[in-house]
Amino acid sequence: MPTTTLINPFTVQIDFVELAMREPDAHNVRLASVMRGYYKDQEALDRLIGGGGDPLHYETFEKHLPEEYGHLLFCISKLQPGVVGEEYFMTKGHYHTRVNTGEIYFCLQGQGYMVMKTSDGKFDAQRMTRGSLVYVPPYWGHRSVNTGGEPLTMFCVWPGDAGHNYGDIEREGFPKRIFQRDGREVIE
Ligand SMILES: [Fe+2]
Repeated sequence: MPTTTLINPFTVQIDFVELAMREPDAHNVRLASVMRGYYKDQEALDRLIGGGGDPLHYETFEKHLPEEYGHLLFCISKLQPGVVGEEYFMTKGHYHTRVNTGEIYFCLQGQGYMVMKTSDGKFDAQRMTRGSLVYVPPYWGHRSVNTGGEPLTMFCVWPGDAGHNYGDIEREGFPKRIFQRDGREVIE
């Protein structure tokens, strides 16, 4: 039986005006430069980094919890709006290290997609607007994409022992990307 540490109950306050976690233990900031190699138009990303002083791309607010079976990890994730060339801003995306673990993403603000794939080639994109709860089943790699004009802010919950595997997505990418063409969203 895996270890599950006993801790005391606690409460976290989510600020519904700022759409941020009050008093997080960790505030992780990802600047545009971490996305090198992920977008189709690498030169457009270089221009964004060079011209804007490496702007904020996405950030998470988290509590420190035991990364163990039985615990639930959670965060507020905020992805900025914008495009790199024609491609909407997105997160790197990941599988879980323990692949048979799912995740819930609850959209609090903005609009976009949860883009998902399996290692054997299945693809899915679930539309997200304020109030959408997307269930990412076990085995599906996942990435969020912001197709709106304001931050795409989500509350996420996943098993404590799931872990993150970014490397496979970095190598494989996703079968489809989401572009802005003539003011419309195109998935191809
Ligand atoms: Fe995840």
